[in-house]
Amino acid sequence: MTENILIAVAWPYANAEIHVGNLTGSHLPGDIVARYHRLKGNNVLMITGTDSHGTPVTLAADKAGKPVEEVYKFYHDGFIELFQKIGITYDLYTTTHSENHFKVSQSIFLALLKNGFLFRKTEPQWFSPGLNRFLPDRYIEGTCYICGTEGARSDQCDACGNVLDPTKLVNPKSKVEGDTSSPELRDTEHFYIDLSKLEPDVKKYLTDRADHMRDTVLGESLRKIEAEGLKPRAITRDLDWGIPVPVNDAGWETKKLYVWFEAVIGYLSAPIEWSQVSGRKDAWREWWINPKAKQFHFIGKDNIFFHTSLWPAELMGVGSAFMEIFADEEVPLILPYDVPANQFMNLEGKKISGSGNWGVWGRDALTRFDPDAIRYYLTVNMPETKDSDWDWAEFVSRNNNELVATWGNLANRVLSFCYKHWEGHVPSVDINTLRDSDLNLLAIIENGFATVGAELEAVRLRSALSEAMKLATVVNQYLDVNAPWSAVKTDKDGAAKTVYTALKAIDSLKVMFAPFLPFTCEKLHGFFGYETPIFGEQYTEDVTDSLGTHKVLRYRPSTSLRAEWKPSELKPGQKLNQPSPLFKKLENEVIDVERGRLGK
Ligand code: MF3
Ligand code: ZN
Repeated sequence: MTENILIAVAWPYANAEIHVGNLTGSHLPGDIVARYHRLKGNNVLMITGTDSHGTPVTLAADKAGKPVEEVYKFYHDGFIELFQKIGITYDLYTTTHSENHFKVSQSIFLALLKNGFLFRKTEPQWFSPGLNRFLPDRYIEGTCYICGTEGARSDQCDACGNVLDPTKLVNPKSKVEGDTSSPELRDTEHFYIDLSKLEPDVKKYLTDRADHMRDTVLGESLRKIEAEGLKPRAITRDLDWGIPVPVNDAGWETKKLYVWFEAVIGYLSAPIEWSQVSGRKDAWREWWINPKAKQFHFIGKDNIFFHTSLWPAELMGVGSAFMEIFADEEVPLILPYDVPANQFMNLEGKKISGSGNWGVWGRDALTRFDPDAIRYYLTVNMPETKDSDWDWAEFVSRNNNELVATWGNLANRVLSFCYKHWEGHVPSVDINTLRDSDLNLLAIIENGFATVGAELEAVRLRSALSEAMKLATVVNQYLDVNAPWSAVKTDKDGAAKTVYTALKAIDSLKVMFAPFLPFTCEKLHGFFGYETPIFGEQYTEDVTDSLGTHKVLRYRPSTSLRAEWKPSELKPGQKLNQPSPLFKKLENEVIDVERGRLGK
């Protein structure tokens, strides 16, 4: 049965380069699962885009002394380049700064208003007398009133992970350069979403998913609700940059929707934009109205509350009113199926940070290392259940001892040997004459589609990759026993059976490794002589609307029928192409050179 799978990845803020922690936290696991489901023949839609509004972005622009629009586009274009080079196959990678996203976000706001989940309230907020403006969210830093850490942002503390009430921050300071005035509290009117009314629904939503949500995610979300309850939250801000609040009363022109309130709505607006640019206006409904569709949210642990509480609450609060406002019909939107949030990846034992250049930055790393080498290390080290660490010595050793030695050499050794001794063709064996040991190996590999597949299905990606790697080891052992390299001189027929069997196993392993290592698997697929590629192509496009032009990244699926999530049907006698090594062995010098770049 074909499933509709929405792969929704957290929208990165347009305020910094993307590093390996961001990649392994959300984009890469999303891509691996998307590629797997595409191989299974499921209808996959993988989306996200740049989180272009909010104080993280305006602060970055202030710092650069440039217009926000220019700064957000600078990062946005860089993200797209990175995703293309490292193969994160978004069906649509867009931005929250688009007419479509504005319209969808405003419709969600209006639907919540209609259903009575929003109210207005005047409350004190931090204000800079010097600048004569309010200082929302990251414009204020101070001491966290929960854990006591200094330098906490007024809306969220990175040290203890709590979402904060800005007015309770101790010793608040303005983050605007040159603003030496002391922030004071002044009254301002805002819209609030009454999460307390939705608390029972959010709880039920979470407990209904207890069978498949990660303990880390479910536990944290429920504990938070138990401890503090869900309270009303302001969903508008006093800011120039962002989405206008769709009310006509005086005073609201200077206010905007809160960035978290609207960014999560991107999970709905991006599929709608994708439908429009694909010329299939209503296609997004297959992932949003269809009760059988499954939505997965790939995010980092600092985003958990917004995805397991705020976003489902927004969706439950709109009921069928969104569709009524947006499409003139009454149907409810579905709710996310799973939120496989990851923990963090550190670097050489310390937290990754842009300010001290303590990071491995995606685009920069790709100038020196192949995308699959990076993807491999990021997957074996994915922080699925606890924080992990990028260690340059481990990067080199796992590349050399696992990727190159176990898998790369296996493929290269057998293909080169075959290419040389069977004149560039798969040996023409009669498959009915294969020996028990050959059939036994093929059965073990065939079984891998179920075991590796089950791990991928449950988003246990480290385990999925290690299962596939174990199978590569089994093929190596089979070759050690059957030693075709010597048998070819004495028993060419026996050697042909061994080589055919090993090739067929490698051809199957290629499919299992493909979600993780798409570039090299594609290359290997070509060595086997297949003419249609495993995966489709990524490309960029410009989309123009009333806000201007934004670049988007897209994916054109492959029409290949060759590589499906099922065992190889390799034909005896098939013509091969000249093979070459898939991976590069890394010298130990790399370790010191890379460590030397850190902190500079
Ligand atoms: N921009 C946020 C971050 O980088 C993530 C936003 S996810 C969304 O932490 F759901 F809100 F879009
Ligand atoms: Zn704190």
